[in-house]
Amino acid sequence: MPVITCIDDLKRLHRRRTPKMFYDYCESGSYTEQTFRENTTDFAQIRLRQKVAVDMSGRSVAGRMLGEPVAMPVALAPVGMTGMQHADGEILAARAAEAFGVPFTLSTMSICSIEDVAAHTKKPFWFQLYVMRDEDFVDRIIDRAKAANCSALVLTLDLQILGQRHKDHKNGLSAPPKLTLPVMLDLATKWRWGLGMLGTKRRFFGNIVGHAKGVGDPASLMAWTAEQFDPKLDWGKIARIRDRWGGKLILKGILDEDDARRAADFGAEAIVVSNHGGRQLDGALSSIRMLPRIVAAVGDRVEVHLDSGIRSGQDVLKALALGARGTWIGRAYIHGLGAMGQQGVTTALEVIRKELDTTLALCGERDVAALGRHNLLMPADFETRWT
Ligand code: GLV
Repeated sequence: MPVITCIDDLKRLHRRRTPKMFYDYCESGSYTEQTFRENTTDFAQIRLRQKVAVDMSGRSVAGRMLGEPVAMPVALAPVGMTGMQHADGEILAARAAEAFGVPFTLSTMSICSIEDVAAHTKKPFWFQLYVMRDEDFVDRIIDRAKAANCSALVLTLDLQILGQRHKDHKNGLSAPPKLTLPVMLDLATKWRWGLGMLGTKRRFFGNIVGHAKGVGDPASLMAWTAEQFDPKLDWGKIARIRDRWGGKLILKGILDEDDARRAADFGAEAIVVSNHGGRQLDGALSSIRMLPRIVAAVGDRVEVHLDSGIRSGQDVLKALALGARGTWIGRAYIHGLGAMGQQGVTTALEVIRKELDTTLALCGERDVAALGRHNLLMPADFETRWT
């Protein structure tokens, strides 16, 4: 068993154990990948202020997200095709999150269905919705999420059209994979993954297949987005969805101050400052660089969360210190899942919690709620370089 000390260790194992098309799907940004890269390099520009001789006993990284108690303010983000990274991936990740005490978000484009994840977990999870042209399908999936007792609806606003990730086209990404010669040669070295997949029935988009009408190619996320996602999604349609859902609403994919104000006026419980992990608008600024402006724009009117670029507990701490009330991880836990299934997700969460706790102590704080700008040293023009 390899010694895992950081998310990068899990990433290396993920790459070794999971078919290339799914590893690449996870580890891609759109077009030149500038935004994908800057999501992490911008975190690295922020430095931490060391404080000594402060009693560091009795520390806590626990908090609340959306009023729910969390072991640390880190939620598992919705990730499409998680059940292709490892057999039964969504169920395993949801169970790891539940045992650890952090929220799990199920993607519309998951392999395991809402009902299946609900049947294999005890606590309510969050459900992420992509808005489709077929309003009937949207209404039914909202009702399915309610029936499964999901405690928040996460509406993704930045992916009604898919930013192109070159590798997905070159690899012929699909779920399940089509067995072409290059795929078979790749699978020959990924026997652990293959055995898992042979042992499960969960190999298709479980929320879609059997629930949506007129599906062209039910295996292709790219074809699906082009055919089915509703390009007319606007604030009017969001209001319709909010009213049909009637519960806690999180608007994900906000990267602009005006949009953030609008979301706050709209009555969302939370917004997620996000550029979809650099997978959509290449050329957008990183989430961490936009965060302070957005926090300043909305104040306390809406809970501000952040995703895109978090790979460590230090990153979590930096986001909290810049005003985020919660953070979301995607790749960081998917690397764990692809590497070692449920145990890998737990390990990813443990790595992040330990980094967060140690860094908190060395910054001279005892509670994540006390973090602020005073803990950071930043380039003078970090927030204002691009105006
Ligand atoms: C879907 O959410 C994707 O980013 O591929």
